[in-house]
Amino acid sequence: MDDHSNHYPIDDPDWVADMHANHYLQSWSKQGGRPRVITGAEGSWFWDSDGKRYLDFQSQLVNLNLGHQHPKIVAAIKDQADRLCYIGPAMGSDVRSELAAMMVEITPPNITSTFFTTGGAAANETAIRLARHYTGRQKIVARYRSYHGATGGALSLTGDPRHHLTRADMPGVVRILDPYCYRCPAGHDAPARCPVCRGGSHLEEILIYENPQTVAAVIVESVVGTNGIIVPPDGYMQSLRETCDRHGILLICDEVMAGFGRTGKWFAVDHWGVEPDILTAAKGINSGYVPLGTMSVSADIADWLNDTPLPGGLTYAGHPLACASGVAAIRVMREENTLAHATAMGSMMRTELAQLAEKHPSIGDIRGLGLFNGIELVKDRETREMLVPFAAKGADTKPMSDMMAFAMNEGLYLSFYSSVIRLTPPLNISEGDLRLGLEILDRTLEIADRECN
Ligand SMILES: Cc1ncc(COP(=O)(O)O)c(C=O)c1O
Repeated sequence: MDDHSNHYPIDDPDWVADMHANHYLQSWSKQGGRPRVITGAEGSWFWDSDGKRYLDFQSQLVNLNLGHQHPKIVAAIKDQADRLCYIGPAMGSDVRSELAAMMVEITPPNITSTFFTTGGAAANETAIRLARHYTGRQKIVARYRSYHGATGGALSLTGDPRHHLTRADMPGVVRILDPYCYRCPAGHDAPARCPVCRGGSHLEEILIYENPQTVAAVIVESVVGTNGIIVPPDGYMQSLRETCDRHGILLICDEVMAGFGRTGKWFAVDHWGVEPDILTAAKGINSGYVPLGTMSVSADIADWLNDTPLPGGLTYAGHPLACASGVAAIRVMREENTLAHATAMGSMMRTELAQLAEKHPSIGDIRGLGLFNGIELVKDRETREMLVPFAAKGADTKPMSDMMAFAMNEGLYLSFYSSVIRLTPPLNISEGDLRLGLEILDRTLEIADRECN
C-alpha cells in the first residue's frame, strides 16, 4: 500500500475486514478469513458493525473477568497515561509497587514477590527457567491436557496438539496423565481408587522412572482451562504438593485462566489450601485491557533471588499502564464483591445445566468451579462416545461448529474444544444475562441431540 494519506476508510466495515483478511496474521489459524467487525462493547455484551449484539459467554479469551469497558479500569489507564506511560522496570513506580503489594495480599500466604510479564506464556517461560536455576535440575513434569502458552518453552510444556507445532521441543519435558475423571486415563470409575486421579501416586511412579533428583518442577493448570475445564478431585493438588515436597521439586501452578476470581476465589489453589512455589497468572488480572502477566514466587525463592540474579527480563516488565489497570481491577473486584457473585452465579449455572441435562441426551458431563464451567457432549451417555473426535479439525468438528454458528446467530458467543463447550462469562454478569445465555444454549443443544445414537 503506497497511499500515505491518513485517510484510510476505517469506518467502512468491508475495508476493515479486507485489511484483516489480507494483511493481518491471526493466531493459530489459516489466514484469509474475513472477520466479523466489532465496533463496541460494554459489560457482558459486544456488538458488530451491523449493530447486532452478542452476549459474551466466553469473556473473549477467558480474560475479561470484569467484562468489557469497565469504567474504573478505563479511567485508571487514562489517568496513568496522563501521568507516566512508561518507565523502565528497574525504576520505582507507584502503580507497580501498589500492584506488587496487592499481589502479596491476594496470593497464597507463602508467596511474597512478583515478576510482571506481558502475558501468560512469558510468565511460564520465566517460571521454568527460574525453577531450573533454583534447583540446579533440568526436567519439568507437565500434563497432556494442558495449554501453557505459545513461546518455545511454554509450547513445549503444552500437551494439547498445538505443541506439535513447535518443530523443536524444549528438551527435558516429562509428561503425566490428567485427573480427567469423566474419562479416567487409568480406567477407574472412582477417583479415590485411581492413582492418576489421586495425583501423588501416579506422579511418584513417573518420578521413580525419571529419577526425582533430575526434576526441577511440576507444572499444572490448577483447573484445566482450554483443554476442557477439568477440575481435579479434592485431595489431588494436596497430593501433588506433598509428593513434590518429598523430592525437593517445585510446584508451579499455572492460573493464567483459573486465577483472579474465575473459580470464585482469587486463585483456584485456594479451594484446596495449596501453596505453590511459583504461581503464574495473566488474563483476569486486569481483564486483559493492557497485556499483563505475573510470575509470583515463595519467600524461599524470593530470598534466594536476593543473592542470585533473576534469570529473565522484559522491556515491558511492570509496564505502568498495565499495572495501573491491574490495581484498578483488583480494587473493583473487592468493591463489587466479585468473587462472591461469581460463586453464586456459578452454582446457579451448574444447577440450570443439570436441568438442561434432563432434556438433552447429548450432555455427558457438567463440570466447573465458580464461573469456570464446561459441558462435555457425547453421542451416547452410556458409552460416553465423544460428539466429535479428540482434537478434531475442519469437517470433523461439524456438530460443534454448527452449534457455535447457531448460537452466534442467536446472539450468544460460545467456544469449544473437542466436545466441550466452555461457559466462562464475565464474573460480574447479571443473573438475567446468565439466564438468557442458558436459554439460547438450550436451543443450541438440539443440534447436538440430533447426533445422539
Ligand atoms: C492456562 C494458560 N496458561 C498460559 C496461557 C498463555 O497466556 P498468553 O496467551 O497470555 O501468553 C494461556 C492462554 O490461554 C492459558 O490458558
